[in-house]
Amino acid sequence: MEYDIIEIGSRIRKQLPKKRFWHSVGVAYTAADMALVFGESAQKALTAGLLHDCAKYLSDAEILSECRHHNIPVTPIEQEQSFLLHAKLGAYYAKKEYGIEEEEILSAITWHTTGRPAMTVLEQIIYLADYIEPLRTQPTNPPLDEIRRMCFTDLDRAVYLVAENTMRYLHSEGTPMDPMTERTYLYYNNRINSDGGNEWN
Ligand SMILES: [Fe+2]
Ligand SMILES: [Fe+2]
Repeated sequence: MEYDIIEIGSRIRKQLPKKRFWHSVGVAYTAADMALVFGESAQKALTAGLLHDCAKYLSDAEILSECRHHNIPVTPIEQEQSFLLHAKLGAYYAKKEYGIEEEEILSAITWHTTGRPAMTVLEQIIYLADYIEPLRTQPTNPPLDEIRRMCFTDLDRAVYLVAENTMRYLHSEGTPMDPMTERTYLYYNNRINSDGGNEWN
C-alpha cells in the first residue's frame, strides 16, 4: 500500500513542535536511505520515520492518560517513565488517525525507543535512524560518525552500539531503564559475537 507522504508530512508539521518536526524529517530521510541500502521499502521507511514521534506533542501525563483511555497496555516502567509510551501511543495514532494499516510500519513505530530482540530490518532502521539523524549531536562511544557509517554497513552491529550507548547514557543520568532496552542490547551483543568475532570487543 502506498501512502501519501506529502499529506502525512503536512499533517505532522502542524501537529509537532518545530524541532520535533525537523527531527522526524531527518529520521524519515535517513531511514529511507538505509532502506535503499538494505533492500527495504523506502516508502515504508519514510512513513514510519515521519510518524515515529507523532504522539510526542503531548505531555508525559497526557500520554499516560491517552494510553489508559485507549486501553493500551502499560508496563510498570512505562507507568513510571511515561514518555516511553509515546512509541506505543504513536503506533496507535498512526493507525487510527493517519490510516496506516501495515503492521510492519506500526511495529517499527512501537519499538523505536527501546528496540527489541530479533527486530525486522524496518524496525532496526527506524530504531537506528532515530539515533543518528543529521540533527542529533549527542556524544557517543565510538563517535557518532562511526556509528552513522556502521548504520549503512552492518545493522546488527549498529543496533548493538546504539543500545550500548543508550544504556550507558541512562545509567549516567540515573534514569530507570526499560528492561526491553537491556534485552535488545544482550540479544545483539550475543548475535554479533556468535557471528564469529568482531573488532569492537
Ligand atoms: Fe521517540
Ligand atoms: Fe525520535
